[in-house]
Amino acid sequence: MNHASWINIVYIISCVLFAFGLKFLGSPATARQGNWMSALGMLLAVLATLTAKEIIGFQWIILGGTIGASLGAFVAMRAAMTQMPEMVALLHGFGGLASVFVDWSAYQNHTPDTVVVITALYLSILIGGVTFTGSLVAWAKLSERLPGKPLLFQGQQLVNIAVLAGVLLLAVPFYMTPAYHPVFLWILALSLALGVLLVIPIGGADMPVVISVLNSYSGLVACTTGFVINNVLLIVVGALVGANGIILSYIMCKAMNRSLNNVLFGAFAARKKKTEGTAKGEVKPISPEDAFLILESARSVVITPGYGLAVAQAQHAVRELGELLEKNGADVKYAIHPVAGRMPGHMNVLLAEANVPYDQLVEMDHINPLMDTVDVAIVIGANDTVNPAALHDKTSPIYGMPIIETFKAKTVFVIKRSMAAGFAGIENELFYYDNTRMIFGDAKDIAQKLVAEFKSAV
Ligand code: TAP
Repeated sequence: MNHASWINIVYIISCVLFAFGLKFLGSPATARQGNWMSALGMLLAVLATLTAKEIIGFQWIILGGTIGASLGAFVAMRAAMTQMPEMVALLHGFGGLASVFVDWSAYQNHTPDTVVVITALYLSILIGGVTFTGSLVAWAKLSERLPGKPLLFQGQQLVNIAVLAGVLLLAVPFYMTPAYHPVFLWILALSLALGVLLVIPIGGADMPVVISVLNSYSGLVACTTGFVINNVLLIVVGALVGANGIILSYIMCKAMNRSLNNVLFGAFAARKKKTEGTAKGEVKPISPEDAFLILESARSVVITPGYGLAVAQAQHAVRELGELLEKNGADVKYAIHPVAGRMPGHMNVLLAEANVPYDQLVEMDHINPLMDTVDVAIVIGANDTVNPAALHDKTSPIYGMPIIETFKAKTVFVIKRSMAAGFAGIENELFYYDNTRMIFGDAKDIAQKLVAEFKSAV
């Protein structure tokens, strides 16, 4: 067996590690192992690649690797948990850029001469360019360096169509005369422009879905680059990342009851008139002291966290409250909605950070059938994800979105600062239900007050 075959064998081992890594990442209990497995797969792949005979010198690899690794470690250590989506956006963007550089260098060294390689090269530059600038815009919107609201201008759709048509039409001269460099550069320039144009009209709140779509693109571009330089590992790993990104985007859209089209091109559609909601009845506030008296006698409690938990950074106080409830004899579970918060897995990450045991985190589909046996549901900083209008009000913008059915519990406590709406901008009829009591205040403050009540009672 020659050296190249040995490298391919290591690549296959890496691919297996990546596949299992992804599988393990699917559950909070095994996610760390999944991360380590994938990292090991990457290490093996890099080491094997470094032994390739095509490498003519190590000085640039060492310099680039040192700068890249130091920058990556520095940024990752400084990023707060809530900044993860923007950091991931940057990483995808640079993945796209790296692929474009690899394509560029392959193109400089060797004019593509087969239809497969020309097609792969064309797609690589197109998707790589869009991924790079699109991710930079997504990062800027999330980090508030650009306004989060959709950026629209007169004739925007025409400009987008013209740029898209231009880049598609350039495929023809590229196939006819692949050696002609200006065409390559024009494809790259228009792709970079397209990335900006496609993402600026999307609102900041939809960026998590956009980032997931760009994640998928960064996989696709790695895959097509694999065809350009004939690298099996890039093809397989690119396909894995591409498929994962699309599946995640689909899950997010489904959980928000939106279509991907609506997220990506919604700003151009006529804006839906917002409904006022069908909420009616009386709001019944309750103090933490009185809420404690009900909680003290509860045998089963389901805590349903939402975006407000992240804003208030209440996860540690909530975990302490959960422990005290358990000590008091209650069965405690945390109900996790797939799009609670503002990024995939937002609640899992926060609760894991506070060391809430994984087996207490229950997904929506598993907790809902148990909800009518629950004594108290504590909704903490969640709003849209518990709004019953989603189940029956056809005029509601969130109609059809699955929710955590907290309204079925004997008593519902809603902890939030005011009657203000959540992400969807609509009233929540749960707040007016007979079995609902509102505990107004900051999520962390209220959780700490409830903890203090339990502590002073012993
Ligand atoms: P939301 O519906 O956004 O409601 C959050 C609530 O938290 C607000 O009503 C707010 O009310 C309250 N809040 C804010 N700061 C607080 C604090 N310091 N203390 C206590 N409460 C506080 O939250 P959700 O139920 O998690 O739903 C998420 C929404 O985001 C969904 O509509 C979803 O479609 C959307 N979305 C999610 C994602 C992902 S991937 N997770 C991505 C994009 C969009 P007050 O101001 O009255 O306190």
